[in-house]
Amino acid sequence: MDSSLRAVRISDRAYWVGAVDWGLRDFHGYATSRGSTYNAYLVLGDPVTLIDTVKAPFADELLRNVASLADPAAIDYVVCNHAELDHAGGLPRTIAALRPERVIASALGIKALRGHFHWDQPLYAPQDGETLRLGDLTLRFIETRMLHWPDSMFTYLEEEQTLFSQDAFGMHLASAERFADQLETAVLREEAGKYFANILLPYTNLITRLIGRLPELELAPRVIAPDHGPIWRERPETIVGWYADWAIQRPGRKAVVVYDTMWQSTDAMARAVGEGLAAGGLSVVLRPLAACQRSDIATSLLGAGALLLGSPTLNNQVFPTVADVVTYLKGLRPRNLVGAAFGSYGWSGEAVAQLEAMLQEMKVEVVAEGVKAVYVPDADVRARCRALGEAVAAAVVERVPVTG
Ligand code: FEO
Repeated sequence: MDSSLRAVRISDRAYWVGAVDWGLRDFHGYATSRGSTYNAYLVLGDPVTLIDTVKAPFADELLRNVASLADPAAIDYVVCNHAELDHAGGLPRTIAALRPERVIASALGIKALRGHFHWDQPLYAPQDGETLRLGDLTLRFIETRMLHWPDSMFTYLEEEQTLFSQDAFGMHLASAERFADQLETAVLREEAGKYFANILLPYTNLITRLIGRLPELELAPRVIAPDHGPIWRERPETIVGWYADWAIQRPGRKAVVVYDTMWQSTDAMARAVGEGLAAGGLSVVLRPLAACQRSDIATSLLGAGALLLGSPTLNNQVFPTVADVVTYLKGLRPRNLVGAAFGSYGWSGEAVAQLEAMLQEMKVEVVAEGVKAVYVPDADVRARCRALGEAVAAAVVERVPVTG
């Protein structure tokens, strides 16, 4: 056993044994400005059980943390709640080192693990709700399909009411502190919101249903231990409440204006649109794409009632950066938004109509006719942009009578 204790106790007989990735700044396109953690947990039952692993480069760190707490030969079960490689990448190295008797994942998790690692050894898939005895402790497995992968599963340590929730209730936040109660609530809410907006937003109906079913599932966690970020050992209902609120996608009196510009004409239009939105009573967030990363734009949409898109026309098309972010946002399936489009052009001007079609494909209700400017917007165009903002604001105010 390692002499220096690196594990952190999270409940009576469960310990964090994961890794902190201080330098992570990009997670497949998600800007992780505060880094992340890959949380893994050791449950000191009989047998000792490891729940989740870490990203592959951190596997040795995980194994050192495990060894600081238990004899690796005593670890007979390894549970994989989620097969994405930030948690399962370290699994082959871990299995080679620990040689567990049983590797446990959902049926779809096993399919994903075989797809990743081309294994042929037996893996064990519990039924939804199945329990596993670890001496005087009990693990229960709950399938949470599409939260956020088909394989996703919760593991619940019954006696200690500790929920190992994989990505759900997590956030990308590197910290020396392991617990949410040691960190600032504003930072937690910001990073948890960003995680929700970028990872879980497409599945809000499932989240609402799952939260509603917690009593029926007899899940009353005193500790929520996600696979990223801090662990909730005090008031875990805080993060559950945030999820319940965000999952509704209730629109608010807030507009997000996403645009790019070639020669500052669409930028001038965006500012005029913003003036109109503000004059109409909305909180306005301008997101020029030269300065804004797509995952931050997705985060802006939490609590918004309107999404407006602006783009110059380049070679008869929407500007590529705008198409990129629209593709990303469309996949996240934001709901309950109204919107409009605007943009400058030189001689063909297709972008605005293309943006309106994109908004409609996203199920954003287009509530005002788009504004186009030939070359540089003059006073008349700027006035029409302000009017566009005011029209969108009026549509939001009508739908959101009280600031939401
Ligand atoms: Fe943190 Fe879906 O992996």
